[in-house]
Parts: sequence; C-alpha cells; structure tokens
Amino acid sequence: MCGIIGIASNKPVSVNIINSLKKLEYRGYDSAGLATLTDNNINEKKCSGRVEELEKILFKTPSNGNIGIGHVRWATHGVPNSLNAHPHSSDQVSVVHNGIIENSDEIKKELEAKGIKFKSQTDTEVVTLLITEELKNNKPLDSVFKTLKKLKGSFALGIIFKNFANIIIGARRGSPLAVGYAKEENYIGSDSYALKSMTNKISYLDDGELCILTKDEVNFYDTKLKKVNKKIFTLSEDEASTDKGEYKHFMLKEIVEQPDTVKNCIDEYIDSIKKNINILNFPIEPQNINKIVLIGCGTAYNSCLTAKYWFEELTSIDVEIDIASEFRYRKLKFNSNNLYIFVSQSGETADTAAALDICKKNNVKTCSIVNVIESTIARNSDWVLPIYAGIEIGVASTKAFLGQLTVLYIMCLKLAFLRKDINEDTYIKNIRNLKKLPDAIKKCLKSENNIQLMAKEFISAKGSMFLGRGSSYPIALEGALKLKELSYLHAEGYPAGEMKHGPLALIEEGLPVIVIAPKDKYFEKTISNMQEVIARGGKILFITDNKKESLNENIRFGFRVPHIDNLLTPILLTLPLQMLAYHVALLKNCDVDKPRNLAKSVTVE
Ligand code: F6R
Repeated sequence: MCGIIGIASNKPVSVNIINSLKKLEYRGYDSAGLATLTDNNINEKKCSGRVEELEKILFKTPSNGNIGIGHVRWATHGVPNSLNAHPHSSDQVSVVHNGIIENSDEIKKELEAKGIKFKSQTDTEVVTLLITEELKNNKPLDSVFKTLKKLKGSFALGIIFKNFANIIIGARRGSPLAVGYAKEENYIGSDSYALKSMTNKISYLDDGELCILTKDEVNFYDTKLKKVNKKIFTLSEDEASTDKGEYKHFMLKEIVEQPDTVKNCIDEYIDSIKKNINILNFPIEPQNINKIVLIGCGTAYNSCLTAKYWFEELTSIDVEIDIASEFRYRKLKFNSNNLYIFVSQSGETADTAAALDICKKNNVKTCSIVNVIESTIARNSDWVLPIYAGIEIGVASTKAFLGQLTVLYIMCLKLAFLRKDINEDTYIKNIRNLKKLPDAIKKCLKSENNIQLMAKEFISAKGSMFLGRGSSYPIALEGALKLKELSYLHAEGYPAGEMKHGPLALIEEGLPVIVIAPKDKYFEKTISNMQEVIARGGKILFITDNKKESLNENIRFGFRVPHIDNLLTPILLTLPLQMLAYHVALLKNCDVDKPRNLAKSVTVE
C-alpha cells in the first residue's frame, strides 16, 4: 500500500509526478505529497485527502525543479493528515516510503535521546532522520546503505538530497520498486503502471537492492553494495484498459469487460483445433503430485476455495487451501511432491509473497496464478500461469476473480486428464462447455435492471447474509466481501448448512438474505435452509440457474443465471453479486473505485 514515484529529468517534474500519483492512487488515497529540488532547496507540498487536493495546492503555488519524489498514502503509523503525509523531509533529505519500518519506535527513542526532534507520528520519519545523521560523515549511497542496515520491516524508498541535486536513490526490501528509462529522464515507481505514460522500458529491483538515478543513467547495487546489471523489459501496449472510457467507474468497466476477460484467458490456454489445453511443463509430474495447496488473500482466497471443489470433483488429488497471512506463520510439514499454488491479482501482496518465500526456503515446487506477470510473486515462483485479465484498477477485485477462476478450472481439467482421473470424452466436453462461458457471462450482465431493484432493499438494512452450499459457499463469501468493502454494510457469507449452528440468531424481520442455490446436489438442502430463514422474517433474494424454480411470495427478488454445466455455475453466480455490490454502493453514495480504508495492492503485512 502507498505509492511512490521519483523523476530525474532535464525539465520540471511536478506535473508528471501528479499524473503518476493519480495512477498510483489505487494503492492508497488518504493523503498525498511531493517534494522537488529548486535552487538546492527541498520544496515540499502535502495534504490530507486525494491527489486532486495536492493538484489544487500546486495550481496556486507551483513547484519547479527537475528532480522530485511523490507519494500517495495508505496510513499505517499516524492518522491521515498533512503532517503525516509523505514526503518526510529534514534540512538535508526528503523521503517517500511504501511499507512498514517495524523497529521505528526503538530507533525513534535512540534518536530522541540524541536530541533529534520528530515532526510526525510516522515510522518513515526515522528513515529521514537516520539518513540525515549518516550524511554528516558519508556520501548519499553509503548513508542510505548504512541506514537500511538499521531498519527492520518492508519498504520501498525514494530519496532526494538537498546537496546532491541531480540524484534520486531508490531502495527495496519487501515492497516492490520499478525503474523506468527515457531520454534525459529516468524514474522510480511502485509499479510499471505509474510509469507507463512516460516509458515502456522497465526494470525491477530485487529484494535488498538499491539504485541511483540521474536524468542520464541508472546504476543498481546489490545487498553488498556491489554494482549489478538489470534486465530491461518492454511493456506491452494496453493503454486502452487504463482509461475509464464511457463508464462512470473502473469497477463497472471491469465488470462489463468480463466476457472478454474470460474469452482472452480461454483463448490463451485452449487450443481449439486440437481441443486441448496448452499447459505444459508442470513443475511436478502430474501423476506424482501428492497434494495441491492453494494460497491467497481476500478475493484470491475465495477463488482458491472455489477451486478446491473443482479439484476434489475432477481429480484424485488431495487439496488444501490457506489464507496467506495464516500459512506463513503455521508450523507446516512441507512435501516435495506437493504443488503450492499462489493466487494473486497484483502479485505483490505481502502475505502471499512471504508465504511463497517460505515454500522456496523449504525447496518445494511453487506455481503462481497472477494478473501482473512482472510482479514479485510471478518472478519468484517456479511456474507462472497468467490470467490475462488486463490491468484491474477498481480496488474491489472483479474481473481478476473471474480470471483466476478460469485459470484454476483450466489447470484442474488438464491435471485431471493427464492423471487419467477423467477420460478424453469428459475432457473435451468440459473444454467445449468452458468455451460457452463468455456468452453466458454476457447474458448475466444484461439483467442489470433487476439488480438495481434488488439493491434498493439494502438502503436501510442493518446488515445482510449470503448463503450457499458446495461451490456456491465461496461465492457467498465473495458476494459478502464485495458488498462490505464497497458499501460498508455488514455482510456475512456462510455455508447455508451452518445457519442453525449460530448465525440464525442474526435473522430478524426484513434482514436481506441472499440465497445462492443452483440446481446441483445441494439444491433441496439449500431450499430447506432458506425456509428456516423465511420462517424468521429474513427477506430472501434468490440467485439460481434453475429454470423450474418459480419465485413465490416468500422470495422478494430472484435472479436467474444461464446454465452451462454445474462445474461452471459458480463463475456465473458471481456476476449478480458483483453488480449488486456495485449498485448498493452507488445508492449509498460510496466511492466505488476507492472504498474507504482500503487500497488495491496490499504490500504491508
Ligand atoms: C477484494 C480484494 C482483495 C484482494 C486481496 C488480495 O475485492 O480485492 O481482497 O483480493 O487483497 O490481493 P491480490 O489478489 O492482489 O493478492
């Protein structure tokens, strides 16, 4: 969380810093700031709130300077006000930081004991003041290097120096940092997206590395301060997807894009002529896989849980799933015949990346399913299956979820076939069904009006429940997660069969309860659980693929998704839930693309 940018140029940089910060806002948006160097002075501007506010300040009092750093914040230490906004500057240096300095309290005490004064409540200010101390006896690179040795935690840093007016130093431990190159201009940024309007030539710092950039060159250093060379990647041209186009929100655009997202993904993995899936080189011989362990956070975890049902249904492989923040601290028994699969849209989620590192240290085979192929998680895993969803900007994940499900399903089919858990006919039938998915998604999206009516039921609701059984259970979790993050309304996702073990106590007259009941082996059971809710006054919003089920007076609203095949139904059931969350958020005047307290890429623990 938090986004950083740094530009060294032959012309004033503040406008480009602001433009990049707007792109980085998905990483944090509770305060913003920038610092440039003008006439050997650090010129700092910052404010609470959005980049728009910072832009207004700059409009009134422009910042010159051909070198500068900028930041958007997602507060960890200290409330989001202008004092705690980054950059944090002394009379010598100015610092922007993404991540957490875990030993900041200790360092702060030591510095205060020397009479050094702090202005903010942030952990970042210790970095500023430590570098300032080191600069008394050292050059900039050594000062930063010595400071880094004293820090615990994760960070990406951008630093400018009053007396070394042509350089920016970047450093990375844990949090990502990209470097961009252009003519007489070089950049650092939290991701390549922030740099994309300025360059398509990008390198990435590895963990523990530093870089010094001037407008003319970039030098990289490893953990021992030895110079290293970096590979330069050329980014692909998909600028169109970074624009809202005709849509009011990125989230809406991303929901509507889903037929194409899923189609792209299918086209990448399915050889339509040979009716085969082009997934080769499993890191473990398919027959030898003992267990699959799926790991992710939030929405990505929900896709792992959905996939568990698929792997269990189609293959003979044992499957475990885990939330990355739990996995990384458990006492686990690693097995070299287990395949550890990490699911992450951004590929930068700190907990997921840490869980992957633990697997690597234990010499087990890892696979990542990511949207950002240049990401840390992708680069660190043995095997990468991209979801090809294109950049996702709305903080609430939608198209990436469908992309993750599609890839997990495809992988599951291929494994089942290679292990002979399913025969060729079933394999080809399932591939054929999969290809019907984009059109079925399109049909779901056509019934938006119905969802708008449903959404009104939530305006004065105190909370809501989402119920499902089998593979509809993770979809209930995802529906509840979307609703709570977008509309700040309490929402619980539950396996419908669990209701009478406690949650039924929450049901009262008029509470919206979303029952997800496709016509599968659980259907009748779910209907019985629904009756128990109706009997206690719950207001039922019913989502199914069952053509026969007619709505009755006890069901307030119904939404029918097309039916292709039971295995694919969870994907289709997701659509009405995404649209519901979107429309409830609109009715409640919530910021759909930037929900409060959240950020897109969670690069802190
Ligand atoms: C919810 C959401 C989050 C992310 C989670 C993991 O809409 O977007 O729950 O799914 O933070 O992020 P990634 O997939 O980037 O690892």
